[in-house]
Amino acid sequence: MTDARKSGGSTVALRDIVVRYPGSDRNAVDHVDLDVPPGTLVVVLGPSGCGKSTLLRTINRLVPSESGTICVDAQDVRDFPATQLRRGIGYVIQAVGLFPHLTVAQNIAVVPQLLGWDRARIAERVEELLRLIQLDPQRYADRYPRELSGGEAQRVGVARALAARPRLLLMDEPFGAVDAIVRSALQDETVRLQRALGTTILFVTHDVDEALRIADRIVIMSAGRVVQYDTPLHVLGRPASPYVEELLDTKDAVRRLSLLRVRDAMRAKAVDGQSQRISVEATLREALSAMLDGADALEAIEDGRPIGRLAFDDVRRAIVEST
Ligand SMILES: Nc1ncnc2c1ncn2[C@@H]1O[C@H](COP(=O)(O)OP(=O)(O)OP(=O)(O)O)[C@@H](O)[C@H]1O
Ligand SMILES: [Mg+2]
Repeated sequence: MTDARKSGGSTVALRDIVVRYPGSDRNAVDHVDLDVPPGTLVVVLGPSGCGKSTLLRTINRLVPSESGTICVDAQDVRDFPATQLRRGIGYVIQAVGLFPHLTVAQNIAVVPQLLGWDRARIAERVEELLRLIQLDPQRYADRYPRELSGGEAQRVGVARALAARPRLLLMDEPFGAVDAIVRSALQDETVRLQRALGTTILFVTHDVDEALRIADRIVIMSAGRVVQYDTPLHVLGRPASPYVEELLDTKDAVRRLSLLRVRDAMRAKAVDGQSQRISVEATLREALSAMLDGADALEAIEDGRPIGRLAFDDVRRAIVEST
């Protein structure tokens, strides 16, 4: 980890947010309340057109809300000039939007420059970020966007958004344009960065597997409304409505739970003898049930002896890797 300093994460609070686009007969965002604790990675999940991007864009004021309040770190976002607000909030979108006539280093330096950082500090920060996203500064700093692969460009987009150490990062389907392997590497990298820096992240996707893979909490939206806001464990194990169930089922996440066994997901690991027990032959659906009843981790038992350990993160990994 090159960046040892934690910038920490913002608290975000939305109250009764309503957005209606001109000429539309319905609300794109319809009375949304949402509390995001600092340092949390919240995934906003839902089908096309349900209002995910609009919700995100109200936070950095690219879209005005008709009513309600949005506070970042207990300050109303409307109390700042919009440009100042946006410099403080990282924003990553699917079409990466790198400036084609600027090099990788210059792209990453855009916001620090606007903030008036001196040259040495900017150079140091750019190098640090390139290492963070695992692009060798020697090889990449002076390239132009057209000389990057899609996944590399996505990573530079993330570095640019992180450049001024934002406490809040908004990511709107940031990895849509890359193949499955690069995509899962970028997902892992996002989680790693978030853990390391303590950044609060709001991450929009319509991909159930992506949500299950990275989320601390998931917001499920339908027609502008939030229909469930919960941990992946609870969303999977206790979907709030048939709509949520169906949304998860479209990607078979729930069915995969019944097909996979504890044996497939557990870690062969020192066992403390304190946890609740479950057979290695039990399904992950059964394991999930036990976790919903309050077991943080389960001891996997074979022939009466504990041989491994299963936590929710193991279940989540097994589901997303079984596609
Ligand atoms: N600039 C706009 N003007 C008018 N209507 C818009 C505008 N942007 C979005 N909408 C409408 O608002 C609703 C929500 O759109 P939004 O882009 O927030 O959806 P989304 O959940 O991000 O969808 P997707 O997964 O396809 O990106 C849709 O009905 C859309 O047609
Ligand atoms: Mg969108």
